[in-house]
Amino acid sequence: MNELTYKNKKLQFAGQDISTLTKKFKTPFFIYSEEMLTENYEQFSQGAQKAGLIDPLICFAMKSNPNKELVKILAKLGSGADIVSGGELKRAIEAGIPAEKIVFSGVGKTQEEIEYALKLKGQGLNSFNVESLEELELINQCAKKLKKQARICFRLNPVVQPKTHKYISTGNKTHKFGLLEHDILLSLKEKKYWSHSKLVGLSVHIGSQLLDLKATKKALVRLSEVALKTECPLEFLDVGGGLGVDYHPDETHKLPHIETYMNLIAETLEKAFYAKTDLRPRIVFEPGRRIVAKAGLFVMKVLRNKVSEDNHFVIVDGGMNDFMRPSLYGAYHALLPVKDAPKTQKCHVVGPICETSDCFGSDRPLPPLKSGDLLVLKDTGAYGYSMGSNYNLRGRPLELLLEKKKKIRVINKAQDYSELT
Ligand code: LLP
Repeated sequence: MNELTYKNKKLQFAGQDISTLTKKFKTPFFIYSEEMLTENYEQFSQGAQKAGLIDPLICFAMKSNPNKELVKILAKLGSGADIVSGGELKRAIEAGIPAEKIVFSGVGKTQEEIEYALKLKGQGLNSFNVESLEELELINQCAKKLKKQARICFRLNPVVQPKTHKYISTGNKTHKFGLLEHDILLSLKEKKYWSHSKLVGLSVHIGSQLLDLKATKKALVRLSEVALKTECPLEFLDVGGGLGVDYHPDETHKLPHIETYMNLIAETLEKAFYAKTDLRPRIVFEPGRRIVAKAGLFVMKVLRNKVSEDNHFVIVDGGMNDFMRPSLYGAYHALLPVKDAPKTQKCHVVGPICETSDCFGSDRPLPPLKSGDLLVLKDTGAYGYSMGSNYNLRGRPLELLLEKKKKIRVINKAQDYSELT
C-alpha cells in the first residue's frame, strides 16, 4: 500500500485528506493508520510462517510506540510484547497481551519491576531476558521470596558489529547489552542462580535500523552455537528485533524484504542449529520499527519564514521535543507539503525549541510556504511520541488513529499548560 499520495494536489495518508483534519484538530499531531499497522504486522507474521519458522511469536517492541490503542490492535492480531519497564508491562497487560507472550528485556530491571512481573497470574512472563549475572541472582532471590519459578532467557552478546548508527548498535562487548558466551556457560554450573529459576530460552538483539543483514547472520550462528553448548532443552530462540525501514529514498534498494529476512533466519538456523540437534524450539521476534514506523505521520503547521542571507528557515509548530530522531541521530525523515506545488526553494525546517539541533531537515527542496501552511514529517510512527518530552515546557502533542473504517479517533489528547507540573 502506498501510504502517501497527492489527490488534486492535496496530500492523502492511507486515503485520508490531511488538510481537512487540521480544520478539526490542532497541530502538531501524530496520526497512525490502523490499516497499515495491521498490514505490517500481518506481513511480518505471515513471512515467519511462510519461511517455515517454528511456532513464531512476534513480541512487538513497546518502546517503539506504546500507545494503548495501537497495542490493543496488535494484541487482537495475536502479538506479544517486548517490554523494558514496569510501565510497559502494565500497558501491555492492559492492552490485552497475555503475560505468557511477554519478554522482559533491559539491563536495569529493578527489584520492584521483577517482583511485579513475578506476581502476574498464571505461568507469568514468557521470559526475563537477562542481561547480567547480578540481575539473574536478583531474579532468583525474588522468585524464592515469592515462592515462584522464574523463566529465564539469556540475552547473548554475540560480539558482532552491525552497520547502523553507533547509538543504536548493541551487539558488541563494548556495549552494555547481553552476556558473553563464557559467562552464560559458567553461570549454568552455579547452583546459586537456579534454585527458583529455569533456563527456557536464548536471545540476541544486535541493534536497530538494520538494512545490511551480514551481522544478523553472524549473530544467529553465534546464538545457535551457544544454544547447543548450554545442553538445555530450550523452549525458544529469540532472534530480537532491529529490521530497518527506508527513511531515505536511497535506502529503498537496500531494504531487506520480509521474505529475505525470514529466509535468512530459517536457513542460518537450519545449518547452525537444527542440523545438529533434535530440539525444535519456537522462534521469538522483537520487532518495533518495522511494524509501526511507516504507519505514522507527524503533521505540523508553518509559523513563519525567516531569511538570513542565503539561509531560508521555515519555522514550524512541531519541535524536537515531539520528535527527536533528527536532532538525536541526525536521522533523515522526508518532509512533504500538504499542498503540492513546484519546489522552488531550499529550506531548513526548524522547530521552536531553543537548540540549534531542533531541525527536521536542512536544505530541503520545498514550495514557498506561508504562515498556516501544513508540512508533514514522514515515517514517524516508531520512536516518535515514545521518545518525546516536555522540554521547553511544551505540552505533548495529540495522537490520532485513522481506523480501518476511515473514522478518525483521538487516541491520546494533547496536553495543555494546565497539565504541566
Ligand atoms: N529488542 C530489544 C532488546 C531492543 O533493545 C530493541 C530496540 C528492539 C527489540 C526493537 O528494535 P527495532 O525492531 O524497533 O529496531 N530510538 C532509536 C531506536 C532504539 C532502539 C532500542 N532498542 C531510533 O529512533 O532509531
